[in-house]
Amino acid sequence: MNLIFLGAPGAGKGTQAEVISQKLSIPTISTGNIIREALKNGTEMGLKAKSYIEAGKLVPDSVVIGIIQERLAKDDCANGFILDGFPRTIPQAEALDEMGVKIDKVVEIQVDDETIIGRMSGRRVCSKCGASYHIVNKPPKAEGICDSCGGELVQRKDDAPETVLDRLEVYHTQTEPLKDFYAAKGILRTADGTLGIEKSIEATMKALED
Ligand code: AP5
Repeated sequence: MNLIFLGAPGAGKGTQAEVISQKLSIPTISTGNIIREALKNGTEMGLKAKSYIEAGKLVPDSVVIGIIQERLAKDDCANGFILDGFPRTIPQAEALDEMGVKIDKVVEIQVDDETIIGRMSGRRVCSKCGASYHIVNKPPKAEGICDSCGGELVQRKDDAPETVLDRLEVYHTQTEPLKDFYAAKGILRTADGTLGIEKSIEATMKALED
């Protein structure tokens, strides 16, 4: 299964992909995580992306298309993958087609803007391994400490309230047109992402069966 999870920032793409990729035994590819890792390591690509990501703007298509092309060529993608956060523009979706990548299903995880704004203020991420938590909906076992690696939990810079509003605007203007793009191919499905983590995952799994 070659899958795309589409949805606003904070819709739960990463949280759901983590669980569903294990259920389906396929890797998750998150362009956001790859870019943040590059930023942390101070690579050339990370430096190029820094100002965009911190302002809540999209990193240029050419940069993210290159990242995806390289990642999809790895052996672990042979039996399928979940794309989390890619494509985010029509040119990115067209680039996937041009690479000859066949997508089986696109699930749009639907969450209203008001819920998103509430969620983002409570999100915490591990400064070491990037694992994602929520202070109420998915708390770590010990406050401020990552369950997986013991790293310190911090707030993402782009989760500042004013940047979240910018990211939502970017989503509505540049990414939402992908719904029509994939609906026209007959592979778009929708799932309610407001049901709490477990029930939302069930809704996405059900959408994948349609
Ligand atoms: P990226 O990292 O992809 O951010 P995003 O799409 O904005 O998505 P998020 O990671 O913020 O949210 P999510 O949907 O994964 O939600 P999560 O599961 O964490 O991209 C960041 C930046 O990188 C972009 O702004 C851009 O600059 C750049 N970039 C990346 N890809 C790009 C591309 N293709 N092109 C150009 N630029 C690109 O959940 C959020 C919170 O809610 C968590 O705390 C979680 O615990 C909680 N939660 C999740 N689900 C539920 C639920 N059902 N009920 C209650 N709480 C929930």
